[in-house]
Amino acid sequence: MAAARRIIIDTDPGQDDAVAILLALASLELEVIGITAVAGNVPLSLTEKNALKICELAGKTDMKVYSGAVRPLVRPLVTAEHVHGRTGLDGPDLPEPKMKLQGQYAVDFLVEKLMGEEPGSITLCALGPLTNIALALIREPRIAPRIREIVMMGGAYFEVGNITPTAEFNIHVDPHAAAVVFRAGIPIVMMPLDVTHKALATSQRVAAFRALGNKAGIAVAEMLGFSERFDKEKYAGDGGPLHDPCVIAYLVQPELFSGRNCNVEIETGSELTMGMSVVDWWGVTDRKKNAIVMREVDPEAFFTLLARRLGRL
Ligand code: BDR
Ligand code: CA
Repeated sequence: MAAARRIIIDTDPGQDDAVAILLALASLELEVIGITAVAGNVPLSLTEKNALKICELAGKTDMKVYSGAVRPLVRPLVTAEHVHGRTGLDGPDLPEPKMKLQGQYAVDFLVEKLMGEEPGSITLCALGPLTNIALALIREPRIAPRIREIVMMGGAYFEVGNITPTAEFNIHVDPHAAAVVFRAGIPIVMMPLDVTHKALATSQRVAAFRALGNKAGIAVAEMLGFSERFDKEKYAGDGGPLHDPCVIAYLVQPELFSGRNCNVEIETGSELTMGMSVVDWWGVTDRKKNAIVMREVDPEAFFTLLARRLGRL
């Protein structure tokens, strides 16, 4: 097997973030060199604690978890307890973590690692608002050409929005950070709602996680049982979208996804469409292509991969 790809996961757990982290920790193709928490689904004090809980659930108590930005660059924090519950990780009864956060600020960790390691050796996986990554780019712009790739869950084109009629949650929460990241000249792979709305955790798929019988499988079934109740009603279907694990699945099995290289700009001016990801899918401008925007996923293969990997934990 080729050497494991080295990743840093930037995240705001969140049940779907949790599943993404578990998938990464269970995948030998990936070496997780750190997890950085950001405010998003719930405030930072909870996302950082949830990140620790997930590492303990996976039995990876030596994982380094860093705490990052407490709020977006410009706008007040918007959270999503209506989806994720009061703790952000409602569903399973996970113990209070014994693990401790690292003392270093997540943004400093990102800068230090990217400047200290070989250029092109670290991939960033962004599962929440892009605040930490934008702050790192502002603090030390020389990290930009050293990042191998940013694979991120965020934005939408055909599906438009989930938190406002025109914006996806992660981008809407910190549109200014997203604008910094999309303009930094870093190779970006974007997993928008157009993909994640095809990755539905149906009751049969959730039952398959539970049937794994291990702690991680049962906890994931309980997490999704909770976070889906809102989505099932919203989208009137059997199963809510499983967003963030698409990022990790892409790194493990890229052939499950397909998309197109496009220009993406982020709306930061209009209150009505704040955080809209404006994708030039049809190439109607001569703006520089700055992201591979995914559109399709093979959902069966995606859920098979997830169940197999969670079964390893
Ligand atoms: C994104 O927003 C959050 O609620 C999820 O964790 C995911 O990262 C989906 O819009
Ligand atoms: Ca997330």
